[in-house]
Amino acid sequence: MSKSPKHFLDINELPLSELKSMLAASSAMKAKQKAHQPVKPLEGKTLAMIFERPSTRTRVSFDVAMRQLGGEPIMLTGAEMQLGRGETIADTARVLSRYVDAIMIRILNHEALLELAEYATVPVINGLTRRSHPCQVMADLMTYEEHRGPIEGRTVAWTGDDNNVLASWAHAAERFKFKLNVATPPELAPKKVMRDFIKATGAPIVLGTDPEAAVKGADCVVTDTWVSMGDKEGEHRHNVLKPYQVNSKLMSLAKPDALFMHCLPAHRGEEVTDEVIDGPQSVVFDEAENRLHAQKGILAWCFDAVK
Ligand code: CP
Ligand code: NVA
Repeated sequence: MSKSPKHFLDINELPLSELKSMLAASSAMKAKQKAHQPVKPLEGKTLAMIFERPSTRTRVSFDVAMRQLGGEPIMLTGAEMQLGRGETIADTARVLSRYVDAIMIRILNHEALLELAEYATVPVINGLTRRSHPCQVMADLMTYEEHRGPIEGRTVAWTGDDNNVLASWAHAAERFKFKLNVATPPELAPKKVMRDFIKATGAPIVLGTDPEAAVKGADCVVTDTWVSMGDKEGEHRHNVLKPYQVNSKLMSLAKPDALFMHCLPAHRGEEVTDEVIDGPQSVVFDEAENRLHAQKGILAWCFDAVK
């Protein structure tokens, strides 16, 4: 019987030991790359990358990661594939599995990601859905720990709306055992799926509506765009989110050495001010760089090449 593929779909689906070994492999490969001694465990392997939505970081970092590890990326967009003309996800999964060694997909519909994983016989990686963005948060965990050491027992504050990046931070809080304080406007608060997750796992996540209370004493302050892909733009949304902006005043309530994180792209002057994102506490470009290194750890894990 053939072995089931190792999918990377969500952080809370994997044991902490495996997540930690991915991050350790990412750091080791980063050090080798910086020392001009690249490792190439994926020679002869091909990754198909399907993008149903735009991307800068995910697209370029997966492409470069595959090349630096000795493999080949193939870039596909949903609209250019027969998927765009109604071929099913299941058939697409079956066909691509005959050509490539792994599939990375960005698709808003999370159920479609799960269906792809169900029918693919090669690993499938979640490159962002409406529900979660686990590759981003693996890079964020790597970045936090590079700057401040183990995240276990620390406090991360989220201020903004409920979205895919927050969901992956929540999954990480449960696995890595750090506290997550969440502040959202009441009408953009986490949905039942998150509340059920907290109840079922006992994850140290506190949901609230007051950004100052969430940020007070935090080790890390995180926010994201107020309008995610698939959300409707609108003045009302911006108005209710205005009090959740990360500015110097809000940042001053966190610990003096707190980090500021944002997955990017940022909407300067909306969810974050220039002063904060360009300030000394901001590590947003380290996060962006670590997408490349963290994804090497994820790819190597999917291919059973983590040493
Ligand atoms: N942070 C992130 O996923 O960026 P892209 O949308 O540019 O891939
Ligand atoms: N929450 C954002 C993340 C972009 C990387 C979105 O889904 O658009």
